[in-house]
Amino acid sequence: MAGDPGLALPSRPLLLLLPVLLAVIGHAAAQHNCTCPTNKMTVCELDGRGRCLCRALGSNFEVNCSTLTSKCLLLKARVSAPKTARGLVRPSEHAIVDNDGLYNPDCDHDGRFKARQCNQTSECWCVNSVGVRRTDKGDQNLRCDELVRTHHILIDLRHRPVARAFNHSDLDYELRRLFRDRYRLHPRFVAAVHYEQPTIQIELAQNSSQKTPGDVDIADAAYYFERDVKGESLFQGRGDFDMRVRGEPLDVERTLIYYLDEKPPQFSMKRLTAGLIAVIVVVVVALAACIAVLVITNRRRSGKYKKVEIKELGELRKEPSL
Ligand SMILES: *[C@@H]1O[C@H](CO)[C@@H](O)[C@H](O)[C@H]1NC(C)=O
Ligand SMILES: *[C@@H]1O[C@H](CO)[C@@H](O)[C@H](O)[C@H]1NC(C)=O
Ligand SMILES: *[C@@H]1O[C@H](CO)[C@@H](O)[C@H](O)[C@H]1NC(C)=O
Ligand SMILES: *[C@@H]1O[C@H](CO)[C@@H](O)[C@H](O)[C@H]1NC(C)=O
Ligand SMILES: *[C@@H]1O[C@H](CO)[C@@H](O)[C@H](O)[C@H]1NC(C)=O
Repeated sequence: MAGDPGLALPSRPLLLLLPVLLAVIGHAAAQHNCTCPTNKMTVCELDGRGRCLCRALGSNFEVNCSTLTSKCLLLKARVSAPKTARGLVRPSEHAIVDNDGLYNPDCDHDGRFKARQCNQTSECWCVNSVGVRRTDKGDQNLRCDELVRTHHILIDLRHRPVARAFNHSDLDYELRRLFRDRYRLHPRFVAAVHYEQPTIQIELAQNSSQKTPGDVDIADAAYYFERDVKGESLFQGRGDFDMRVRGEPLDVERTLIYYLDEKPPQFSMKRLTAGLIAVIVVVVVALAACIAVLVITNRRRSGKYKKVEIKELGELRKEPSL
């Protein structure tokens, strides 16, 4: 990789100069690995005081590399990064469906989604805290008073056939560990792990009153996870996502992610009124599974989810976008 200091064998005059060079560059350069472990879509450099400073591609926003980068900045980097960029994102050989769209988001000063998004066009819509559209599209007069928080995320995975079903408690343990160690999400935000072969459901729950300033947002943890299962890890040099349960690899063949907002979305379609809480985003992984757009109703009393396929949401249907 370019930029690896002093790994090639230098010629003799250079060897003599090496101590000087090191002093000049600052030993930080030789000792520090100035890259961003949690976000490879960054450009990093040492500043005057030998600190490694990393900025997100696309926004130039300075990111904190000891925690996850916000999804808004990641989407922006993804949209703005030239597709041919080296070593940034590993292109997937599989089709990727990004639901309502990969758009170029506007992020606020904390790197979070602004409530109103226009994709640098004159057509605007309101999004929730995971950046998913939750209203009809309008013109530039459209107002979005607040950023509505997505407080519940249901990740629904289907794994490839295995000789024996996974042990539920082992699976639960491994998934919680994954979210804690890899995504730095506080364990109390992993509300439940359900399993009925071959379907695994991970529920993330975090409302505004529960989230403290240092906490990773479930939106970001879910996005890093989504990219991991797609084989497009955002982590720097941490290898592929390789999840195992008691040594048995867990290969995901399909993922659906459901987002529940604190307030119902506001689509004008008739059947999207009563009881509907969230718009669903579909992620297709690995096997080119069929594309579906789903919605979820939240039955407050039973607390159960009911999946409903809504065909009319043709607008949400997108062809593979990368
Ligand atoms: C945003 O704009 C890009 C480029 O113009 C386009 O490809 C994409 O579909 C748009 N996304 C949405 C959600 O409108
Ligand atoms: C699952 O594993 C746990 C220990 O990790 C064990 O106590 C339990 O009996 C196992 N369950 C099944 C159904 O094998
Ligand atoms: C946040 O979640 C907690 C625990 O689930 C719940 O008791 C509380 O009422 C929720 N607060 C809001 C504002 O939804
Ligand atoms: C970076 O994130 C870590 C973990 O959340 C936090 O402890 C630290 O204060 C943050 N650093 C800055 C400069 O914000
Ligand atoms: C620098 O970081 C990269 C990516 O994390 C890693 O592959 C490499 O071994 C590191 N080099 C040093 C000298 O630590």
